[in-house]
Amino acid sequence: MERKVGVNIAVMASGRGTNFAAIIRAVKQGKIKANLALLVSDQPGAGAIAKAKRANVKVALVKRGDFAGKKEFEARIIQHLEENKIGLIVMAGFMRMLSPGFVRRFKNKILNIHPALLPSFKGAHAIKDAFEYGVKATGVTVHFVDEEMDHGPIILQCPLEIKEDDSLESLEAKIHKIEHRLYPQAIRLFVEGRLKIFKRKVKIASR
Ligand code: GAR
Repeated sequence: MERKVGVNIAVMASGRGTNFAAIIRAVKQGKIKANLALLVSDQPGAGAIAKAKRANVKVALVKRGDFAGKKEFEARIIQHLEENKIGLIVMAGFMRMLSPGFVRRFKNKILNIHPALLPSFKGAHAIKDAFEYGVKATGVTVHFVDEEMDHGPIILQCPLEIKEDDSLESLEAKIHKIEHRLYPQAIRLFVEGRLKIFKRKVKIASR
Protein backbone atom coordinates (compact mmCIF):
# COMPACT_ATOMS: atom_id res chain seq x y z
CA MET A 1 0.00 0.00 0.00
CA GLU A 2 2.29 2.76 -1.30
CA ARG A 3 1.21 6.36 -0.92
CA LYS A 4 4.55 7.94 -1.84
CA VAL A 5 4.32 10.35 1.06
CA GLY A 6 6.19 10.60 4.34
CA VAL A 7 7.88 7.91 6.35
CA ASN A 8 7.90 4.18 5.52
CA ILE A 9 6.15 2.23 8.27
CA ALA A 10 6.65 -1.44 9.16
CA VAL A 11 4.11 -3.12 11.42
CA MET A 12 5.25 -6.18 13.40
CA ALA A 13 2.46 -8.57 14.44
CA SER A 14 2.16 -12.18 15.57
CA GLY A 15 -1.61 -12.48 15.95
CA ARG A 16 -5.03 -11.49 14.68
CA GLY A 17 -3.89 -8.09 13.50
CA THR A 18 -6.92 -6.01 14.49
CA ASN A 19 -4.62 -3.10 15.41
CA PHE A 20 -2.87 -3.54 12.09
CA ALA A 21 -6.28 -3.38 10.37
CA ALA A 22 -7.06 -0.12 12.21
CA ILE A 23 -3.74 1.31 10.99
CA ILE A 24 -4.48 0.20 7.42
CA ARG A 25 -7.83 2.04 7.64
CA ALA A 26 -6.23 5.21 8.99
CA VAL A 27 -3.64 5.22 6.18
CA LYS A 28 -6.32 4.59 3.55
CA GLN A 29 -8.44 7.42 4.93
CA GLY A 30 -5.45 9.76 4.80
CA LYS A 31 -5.43 10.24 8.59
CA ILE A 32 -1.86 8.91 8.67
CA LYS A 33 0.15 10.37 5.81
CA ALA A 34 2.78 7.66 5.42
CA ASN A 35 3.59 4.52 3.44
CA LEU A 36 2.51 1.25 5.00
CA ALA A 37 5.54 -0.44 3.49
CA LEU A 38 5.84 -3.78 5.30
CA LEU A 39 4.26 -6.28 7.68
CA VAL A 40 6.75 -8.40 9.60
CA SER A 41 5.31 -11.53 11.19
CA ASP A 42 6.85 -14.54 12.90
CA GLN A 43 3.67 -16.66 12.66
CA PRO A 44 2.63 -18.20 9.31
CA GLY A 45 -1.00 -18.47 10.47
CA ALA A 46 -1.28 -14.90 11.77
CA GLY A 47 -4.51 -13.13 10.80
CA ALA A 48 -2.33 -10.06 10.22
CA ILE A 49 -0.78 -11.73 7.15
CA ALA A 50 -4.17 -12.26 5.48
CA LYS A 51 -5.08 -8.65 6.25
CA ALA A 52 -1.80 -7.43 4.71
CA LYS A 53 -2.41 -9.41 1.53
CA ARG A 54 -5.94 -8.00 1.22
CA ALA A 55 -4.61 -4.46 1.63
CA ASN A 56 -1.64 -4.96 -0.70
CA VAL A 57 0.96 -4.53 2.04
CA LYS A 58 4.24 -6.39 1.48
CA VAL A 59 4.77 -9.28 3.95
CA ALA A 60 8.03 -10.52 5.48
CA LEU A 61 7.44 -13.84 7.26
CA VAL A 62 10.43 -14.48 9.51
CA LYS A 63 10.05 -17.63 11.62
CA ARG A 64 12.19 -17.94 14.73
CA GLY A 65 12.58 -21.71 14.14
CA ASP A 66 14.37 -21.10 10.83
CA PHE A 67 17.33 -19.50 12.62
CA ALA A 68 19.97 -20.89 14.95
CA GLY A 69 19.67 -18.03 17.43
CA LYS A 70 17.82 -14.84 18.25
CA LYS A 71 20.69 -12.80 16.79
CA GLU A 72 20.32 -14.38 13.34
CA PHE A 73 16.50 -14.13 13.53
CA GLU A 74 16.67 -10.41 14.29
CA ALA A 75 19.38 -9.85 11.67
CA ARG A 76 16.97 -11.13 9.02
CA ILE A 77 14.23 -8.81 10.27
CA ILE A 78 16.66 -5.87 10.25
CA GLN A 79 17.61 -6.74 6.67
CA HIS A 80 13.92 -6.50 5.65
CA LEU A 81 13.53 -3.21 7.52
CA GLU A 82 16.59 -1.69 5.87
CA GLU A 83 15.74 -2.96 2.38
CA ASN A 84 12.38 -1.21 2.72
CA LYS A 85 13.93 1.99 4.19
CA ILE A 86 11.71 1.81 7.25
CA GLY A 87 11.58 4.94 9.42
CA LEU A 88 8.95 3.79 11.94
CA ILE A 89 8.39 0.32 13.42
CA VAL A 90 4.97 -0.29 14.93
CA MET A 91 4.66 -3.28 17.25
CA ALA A 92 1.07 -4.51 17.11
CA GLY A 93 0.90 -7.68 19.14
CA PHE A 94 4.37 -8.95 18.16
CA MET A 95 4.84 -11.38 21.01
CA ARG A 96 8.64 -11.41 21.23
CA MET A 97 10.99 -9.15 23.14
CA LEU A 98 13.39 -7.27 20.88
CA SER A 99 17.04 -7.44 21.94
CA PRO A 100 18.72 -4.29 23.30
CA GLY A 101 20.88 -4.14 20.14
CA PHE A 102 17.78 -4.10 17.90
CA VAL A 103 16.13 -1.39 19.98
CA ARG A 104 19.30 0.77 19.97
CA ARG A 105 19.59 0.46 16.21
CA PHE A 106 16.12 1.98 15.78
CA LYS A 107 16.30 4.31 18.79
CA ASN A 108 13.06 6.25 19.32
CA LYS A 109 11.63 4.78 16.12
CA ILE A 110 9.74 1.82 17.62
CA LEU A 111 6.23 2.14 19.07
CA ASN A 112 4.28 -0.42 21.08
CA ILE A 113 0.70 -0.69 22.26
CA HIS A 114 -0.11 -2.31 25.58
CA PRO A 115 -3.63 -3.19 26.79
CA ALA A 116 -3.25 -1.74 30.31
CA LEU A 117 -2.21 1.49 32.00
CA LEU A 118 1.56 1.04 32.27
CA PRO A 119 3.46 0.56 34.49
CA SER A 120 0.65 -1.69 35.78
CA PHE A 121 0.09 -5.16 34.35
CA LYS A 122 3.08 -5.57 32.05
CA GLY A 123 3.40 -8.77 30.02
CA ALA A 124 1.40 -10.87 27.62
CA HIS A 125 -1.92 -11.19 29.53
CA ALA A 126 -2.54 -7.65 30.70
CA ILE A 127 -6.33 -7.52 30.23
CA LYS A 128 -6.90 -10.78 32.11
CA ASP A 129 -4.39 -9.85 34.81
CA ALA A 130 -6.10 -6.49 35.44
CA PHE A 131 -9.56 -8.11 35.42
CA GLU A 132 -8.57 -10.84 37.87
CA TYR A 133 -6.71 -8.41 40.13
CA GLY A 134 -9.96 -6.54 40.65
CA VAL A 135 -8.76 -3.06 39.72
CA LYS A 136 -11.57 -0.56 39.15
CA ALA A 137 -9.84 1.08 36.21
CA THR A 138 -7.48 -0.06 33.48
CA GLY A 139 -6.85 1.20 29.96
CA VAL A 140 -4.48 1.37 27.02
CA THR A 141 -0.94 2.73 26.66
CA VAL A 142 1.05 3.60 23.54
CA HIS A 143 4.75 4.08 24.21
CA PHE A 144 8.20 4.19 22.66
CA VAL A 145 10.03 0.89 22.99
CA ASP A 146 13.25 0.84 25.02
CA GLU A 147 15.43 -2.02 26.22
CA GLU A 148 13.01 -3.10 28.99
CA MET A 149 9.67 -4.83 28.48
CA ASP A 150 6.58 -2.54 28.32
CA HIS A 151 8.68 0.29 29.72
CA GLY A 152 9.67 3.12 27.34
CA PRO A 153 8.43 6.76 27.37
CA ILE A 154 4.64 7.01 27.24
CA ILE A 155 3.02 8.77 24.28
CA LEU A 156 -0.72 8.36 24.95
CA GLN A 157 -2.83 6.65 27.60
CA CYS A 158 -6.57 6.19 27.76
CA PRO A 159 -8.21 5.05 31.01
CA LEU A 160 -11.26 2.79 31.19
CA GLU A 161 -13.49 2.10 34.18
CA ILE A 162 -14.18 -1.58 34.87
CA LYS A 163 -17.88 -1.96 35.68
CA GLU A 164 -19.24 -4.57 38.10
CA ASP A 165 -21.11 -6.30 35.30
CA ASP A 166 -18.07 -6.46 32.99
CA SER A 167 -16.90 -9.93 32.03
CA LEU A 168 -13.39 -10.61 30.75
CA GLU A 169 -14.88 -10.73 27.25
CA SER A 170 -16.69 -7.41 27.52
CA LEU A 171 -13.57 -5.79 28.97
CA GLU A 172 -11.44 -7.16 26.12
CA ALA A 173 -13.88 -5.76 23.57
CA LYS A 174 -13.80 -2.31 25.20
CA ILE A 175 -9.99 -2.31 25.41
CA HIS A 176 -9.61 -3.28 21.76
CA LYS A 177 -12.04 -0.55 20.69
CA ILE A 178 -9.85 2.02 22.49
CA GLU A 179 -6.68 0.54 20.98
CA HIS A 180 -8.02 0.88 17.45
CA ARG A 181 -8.56 4.61 18.02
CA LEU A 182 -5.46 5.37 20.13
CA TYR A 183 -2.78 3.65 18.03
CA PRO A 184 -3.54 5.46 14.75
CA GLN A 185 -3.63 8.72 16.73
CA ALA A 186 -0.15 8.09 18.21
CA ILE A 187 1.26 7.01 14.83
CA ARG A 188 -0.11 10.17 13.28
CA LEU A 189 1.64 12.29 15.93
CA PHE A 190 4.93 10.49 15.22
CA VAL A 191 4.57 10.84 11.46
CA GLU A 192 3.82 14.56 11.83
CA GLY A 193 7.03 14.96 13.86
CA ARG A 194 5.13 16.18 16.91
CA LEU A 195 6.58 13.86 19.57
CA LYS A 196 9.53 15.20 21.57
CA ILE A 197 11.17 12.96 24.16
CA PHE A 198 12.67 14.41 27.36
CA LYS A 199 14.06 11.48 29.37
CA ARG A 200 10.88 9.54 30.30
CA LYS A 201 8.48 12.28 29.23
CA VAL A 202 6.98 12.72 25.79
CA LYS A 203 5.74 16.19 24.91
CA ILE A 204 3.25 16.60 22.09
CA ALA A 205 3.87 19.70 19.98
CA SER A 206 0.81 21.53 18.73
CA ARG A 207 0.63 21.99 14.99
C1 GAR B 1 -3.33 -6.09 21.48
O1 GAR B 1 -4.35 -6.09 22.46
C2 GAR B 1 -2.07 -5.50 22.05
O2 GAR B 1 -2.31 -4.48 22.98
C3 GAR B 1 -1.44 -6.70 22.71
O3 GAR B 1 -1.64 -7.72 21.77
C4 GAR B 1 -2.91 -7.53 21.16
C5 GAR B 1 -2.78 -7.76 19.67
O4 GAR B 1 -4.05 -7.79 19.09
N1 GAR B 1 -0.06 -6.48 22.99
C6 GAR B 1 0.51 -6.83 24.14
O5 GAR B 1 -0.07 -7.42 25.04
C7 GAR B 1 1.99 -6.43 24.28
N2 GAR B 1 2.46 -6.64 25.59
P1 GAR B 1 -4.25 -7.68 17.52
O6 GAR B 1 -3.37 -8.77 16.89
O7 GAR B 1 -5.69 -7.94 17.29
O8 GAR B 1 -3.83 -6.31 17.09
